[in-house]
Amino acid sequence: MKATAKAHTNIALIKYWGKRNEELILPTNNSLSITLDGFHTITNVSFKEELTNDVFYLNDSFVQGEQADRVTKFLNLVRDLAGRYVFAEVKSVNAVPTAAGFASSASGFAALAAASTKAVGLNLSDEQLSRLTRQGSGSACRSIYGGFAEWQKGEKEDGSDSFAVPVVAKDHWDIRVAAVVLSSKMKKVSSRAGMKRTVETSPFFKGWVESIPADLQSIKEGILERDFTKVGEIAEANCLKMHATTLGASPPFTYWLDTTVTVMQTVKQLRDSGIPAYFTIDAGPNVKVLYLPEYEVQIKQALQSIQGVADVKLSRVGQGITYLGDEDFA
Ligand code: PMV
Repeated sequence: MKATAKAHTNIALIKYWGKRNEELILPTNNSLSITLDGFHTITNVSFKEELTNDVFYLNDSFVQGEQADRVTKFLNLVRDLAGRYVFAEVKSVNAVPTAAGFASSASGFAALAAASTKAVGLNLSDEQLSRLTRQGSGSACRSIYGGFAEWQKGEKEDGSDSFAVPVVAKDHWDIRVAAVVLSSKMKKVSSRAGMKRTVETSPFFKGWVESIPADLQSIKEGILERDFTKVGEIAEANCLKMHATTLGASPPFTYWLDTTVTVMQTVKQLRDSGIPAYFTIDAGPNVKVLYLPEYEVQIKQALQSIQGVADVKLSRVGQGITYLGDEDFA
């Protein structure tokens, strides 16, 4: 009754921004992401008859409160699916800066879903696993796959048709992502709260949703053709549209800091000087920069030299879920 799984986080090029069902985590639009090999979570789940409640350790620290409640809520889904009502010890090691717009929840819930279902003896298909993972954290359902993945929003009210599917595998295209970590700390509005406020109050939300199908179609063409300019332009514009919806919300908010804007301007300057690069930003101040391998040195140098940038972490396209032996869990 135990298993260990590793999942990588992902960065959306077409963002998931807005829910049509809060409880089941059903989105208002399809989204598309790259799985990143640079950031991962390894999770070990042991179901133990002697436990009287679930216990959760993150990076060796015992966790209580909201984070632990989310783990239990997710494990309840797994127990219901398996028809086995045993509590679990969950140990996660997270190699993703938590809650700073790096979607640590994506690799976290993908690893939890994979390890817990395996531990309890469920043998789920990727589609089933993605659908289940979605109910822990929306963006996590894309991390089941390596390469590029698309989360299909689905139409059904029960969410049975809302899960991610692979677009192209990891080896299709060696595109890179630099994650620019700013010195300033935690975001103030969670993605959950930010989406809710946007859906309920932003007059720009309708325009956002309506713009998605065209973006999706073009970016998928760009990915298949390995057209960096096409993919970068659509991803950057899609990110700007998502963030524009937050400025129209009531009360208005933004995830950007002054350094966020400086990084965006640096990316534009790089482009103007002949180095192809495009940015994207999630629900936090950090910026991710898309680039091609031949420009890695210049990209890293330019981003690192910006005042207010704490770190630049480079990543390649990553793989999907892998299962590890218990001995791999340090
Ligand atoms: O799944 P969550 O609650 O971490 O939401 C993620 C939302 C964005 O990161 C902003 C966009 C996305 O598609 O990942």
